[in-house]
Amino acid sequence: MSKKKLVFSGVQPTGNLHLGNYLGALKNFVSLQKQVECIYCVVDLHAITIFQDPNQLQNNVLETTASFLATGLNPNKSIIFNQSSVSGHAELAWILNCVSRIGWLNRMTQFKDKAGSDKEKASVGLYIYPNLMAADILLYKATHVPVGADQKQHLELSRDIAQKFNNDFNCKEFFPLPEPLIPKNISRVMSLRDGTKKMSKSEESDYSRINLKDTADEIIKKIKKAKSDSNTIPGDINALESKPEALNLLTIYSEITKSSLEKTISEMEGKEYSFLKTKLAEALINEITPVGKEIEKLLKDKSHLISILKKGTEKANIIAEENLKNIREKIGLI
Ligand code: AMP
Ligand code: TRP
Repeated sequence: MSKKKLVFSGVQPTGNLHLGNYLGALKNFVSLQKQVECIYCVVDLHAITIFQDPNQLQNNVLETTASFLATGLNPNKSIIFNQSSVSGHAELAWILNCVSRIGWLNRMTQFKDKAGSDKEKASVGLYIYPNLMAADILLYKATHVPVGADQKQHLELSRDIAQKFNNDFNCKEFFPLPEPLIPKNISRVMSLRDGTKKMSKSEESDYSRINLKDTADEIIKKIKKAKSDSNTIPGDINALESKPEALNLLTIYSEITKSSLEKTISEMEGKEYSFLKTKLAEALINEITPVGKEIEKLLKDKSHLISILKKGTEKANIIAEENLKNIREKIGLI
C-alpha cells in the first residue's frame, strides 16, 4: 500500500455556506492544502438525494466553488471539482452498494434525522447516501477526511466498507481505511437559536446561523438576537453545561480569536453577555465579511468558476480511472 497521505472532502451545494461549514470544515481544508495533496469536491449527487430546483442547483454548485476559493483554497494546489462530472463516483457507489450492508445503513442517524417521521417517502438515494460518500473517498484511495463531527458516523461506515472490500476480494491493503480529521476545539457549531441543534443550512430561521455572505449589519443583528443567558458569564466551564447557547457563543469567540476556551472564559468572567456579543460580532465581521465579498466578486465571473471545475475534473478523472480499473479487476468485471 502506498503510504502517501491524500486528503479528500466534500461539501453539498445546497445553498449558503455558514459559520459551521467554515469552522468545522473549510478552514481545515485550507490549512491541509499547505501540507499534503488535497481533493475537494462539490457533491452535487449527494445534494439531489433531497429534491433540488434544477434552476438553482447549477448556481449553488458555482457558489460553493466560489466559497472554496474565497476561503483560500488554491486550484493550483488542490483539485477542486464537482462530483457529477467524474462518473467514477456513481460507478463505485454502485459497487459499494453491493459491499455495504443494510444493517449498517439502518444505524445511520443522519438518515433518521433527514427522512423525518415518514421514512417510506424518503428517496432511496437518501438512504444509500453514505455508500456514495464512501465511494467519493475510496475512489481516490484517500487516507484523511476533514469533516465536522456530524460526519463521524459516515466516516466509520466508509472504513467498514473499505475493510469489507479488502477482505471479500482478498486484497488486504487495497483501500486505506480513511481517517476523519475533526477539529478539536469546535467540531460542531450550534444554532444561535437553540444550542442543542447544530447550525445548519436547512434550519428555517436565518437567525439561527451566520452565513458567509452576511453583511456586517446582518451579523450584528443576528448575534444581538442570539439566545444566551440572563446571568453574567461564569468563570467556570462546568457552570456552562446547562447553558448550551452561551457555551456556543463563547466557543465561537475563542475559535475566531484563536484563544482557548478556558482563557476566553477567564477573561469574560463576571461580564454581561451583551459585552461578549459586541466583541463576537466585531470578530466575526473581521473574519467573515471579506470572505462574503470575495464570494460575490467571484460569482460575477461564472465562466472562470466553470473553467476551474473543468480543470479539476480532468485531474480527478485521471486518478479515478486508474483506481477504477484496478477495482473492476479485483471484482472480476470485464
Ligand atoms: P454540508 O454542508 O452538510 O455538506 O457540510 C459540509 C461540511 O461542513 C461537513 O464536513 C460538515 O461536517 C461540516 N459542517 C456542517 N455543519 C456544521 C456545523 N454546524 N458545525 C461544524 N461543522 C459543520
Ligand atoms: N456527507 C457530507 C456532508 O453532508 C458531504 C460529503 C459527501 C463528504 N461526500 C464526502 C464529506 C466525502 C467528506 C468526504 O457534509
